[in-house]
Amino acid sequence: MGALHHQLVHELGYDPDDGVPSAEDVARDLPVGAVVRAREGAVLVAVARLGSGRLVIVEDECPHDGGRISDGFVEGERLVCARHNWELEVVGRRCERVRSCKLR
Ligand code: FES
Repeated sequence: MGALHHQLVHELGYDPDDGVPSAEDVARDLPVGAVVRAREGAVLVAVARLGSGRLVIVEDECPHDGGRISDGFVEGERLVCARHNWELEVVGRRCERVRSCKLR
């Protein structure tokens, strides 16, 4: 890592070359039913296109136990966390539990 790169990482609080795409780039062509990890500056987010076509961007941290929401999947108008299958509803920029531990 060069000195300039190190300085940028220190000043920005994240590495812009870490391979995580920007939420804006991901959102452009995201198909219905997809959820992808992205970033908005230093904040890691999950970008999802719900069943209705509505685009949502939320912090990529499950309210249950911190799992990555972007590792889960879309089910209609809800996001489902892959770790313990909590069903989540998007409220503002965060997710709230709708139902927990749904057996599949
Ligand atoms: S961490 Fe998401 S359901 Fe448990």
